[in-house]
Amino acid sequence: MKISNRVLNMNFSPIRKLVPFANDAKKRGIKVYSMNIGQPNVVTPDSFFQGLTNYNEKIVKYSDSQGISILINSFIESYKNWNIDLSEDEILITQGGSEAILFSLMAICDPGDEVLVPEPFYSNYNSFTKVAGAKIVPFSTKIEHGFHLPPKEEIVKKITDKTRCILFSNPANPTGTIYTHDELKMLADIAKEHDLYLISDEVYRQFVYDDIEYTSCMYIEDVLDRVILVDSISKHYSACGARIGLVASKNKTLINQMLKLCQSRLCVSTIEQCAASNLINTLGSYLEDVKTKYKARRNLMCEYLSKIPGVVFNKPSGAFYILAELPVDDTEKFAEWLLTDYNYENKTVMIAPGSGFYGTDGLGKKEVRLSFCTSIEDIENSMIVLTHALKDYNALNLKK
Ligand SMILES: Cc1ncc(COP(=O)(O)O)c(C=O)c1O
Repeated sequence: MKISNRVLNMNFSPIRKLVPFANDAKKRGIKVYSMNIGQPNVVTPDSFFQGLTNYNEKIVKYSDSQGISILINSFIESYKNWNIDLSEDEILITQGGSEAILFSLMAICDPGDEVLVPEPFYSNYNSFTKVAGAKIVPFSTKIEHGFHLPPKEEIVKKITDKTRCILFSNPANPTGTIYTHDELKMLADIAKEHDLYLISDEVYRQFVYDDIEYTSCMYIEDVLDRVILVDSISKHYSACGARIGLVASKNKTLINQMLKLCQSRLCVSTIEQCAASNLINTLGSYLEDVKTKYKARRNLMCEYLSKIPGVVFNKPSGAFYILAELPVDDTEKFAEWLLTDYNYENKTVMIAPGSGFYGTDGLGKKEVRLSFCTSIEDIENSMIVLTHALKDYNALNLKK
């Protein structure tokens, strides 16, 4: 039976594709530390669970396709803390940030259109873009420049008459880089000069360390009709499984057209929307506490990495990932070997090979993404394993 070329042309997630090897390792009794995935280990606030039990309807009904008003208004209130001013008709609730990105691309791209993305980028951008029938055109950022954006000419030369938007995450996954106000202003100027949208994926906005000033694309007044904001409760509130996100834009025509996509999938889970609203309304110091935890974890991981010979990395200013260059030729092979052939004191690590975060063939082969949203103990153990594994792997290669 035929399978569509659309699906055949998609790739399995580079973050998840090593899972079968990890499962085999676990069956062999090896403890596997999952440093590959952005699944926070901090507990979801109680207010989410209270919100679930507060649901006292007798029927679990469809909700509005746009999302329930109480949740939309909770988001509007919470954006005030960020000096972002939004009204109800500028927001659509989506199934996580994932659906927000997919719907944004579907609403602005026709088949064959191009999406400019700074690489390395969140690997699922590949799938969303392919489903929308569009194509990612990457422009490279480099480890030696802290993965900050290249000069304007480098970006502009990638623009064709098919380019529709610039899609980026800020703080960035997988690098943890936070773009400066000047960088965002440059993207905004490019968008204006070349009639593009800016899809600003801000699902890590809460995680900005070291008093670095954060600029949201929503602060750049003269391009607000071009900005599409993507957000989600997954990472901010450690509620990845709730599948609640949003897309927001001052461009009401675009939001209104995107509503057709929301209507086609009827609604987002009604009960989880109620719970999410309760969560956003009753947070207290939760967000600050979590940020303090992640900062300590980041510092610990950086301390270990800085002691491993040949490892190159930047201390990330945001999100909860480090994209590090390792002293190996091919991190795909190394990551597989860690799970199939290696253990240190019956422990090993699962890491995400860097090439999956690039659109240009051959880039990222020596890099890996390490996530520090796990426990202090797991970070310590995984870094000890990684330190020994790199030594043993390279010794083995030398013998060959
Ligand atoms: C940069 C970025 N954007 C969007 C998402 C999607 O998150 P969700 O659909 O859980 O909101 C993720 C998830 O890891 C991400 O890292």
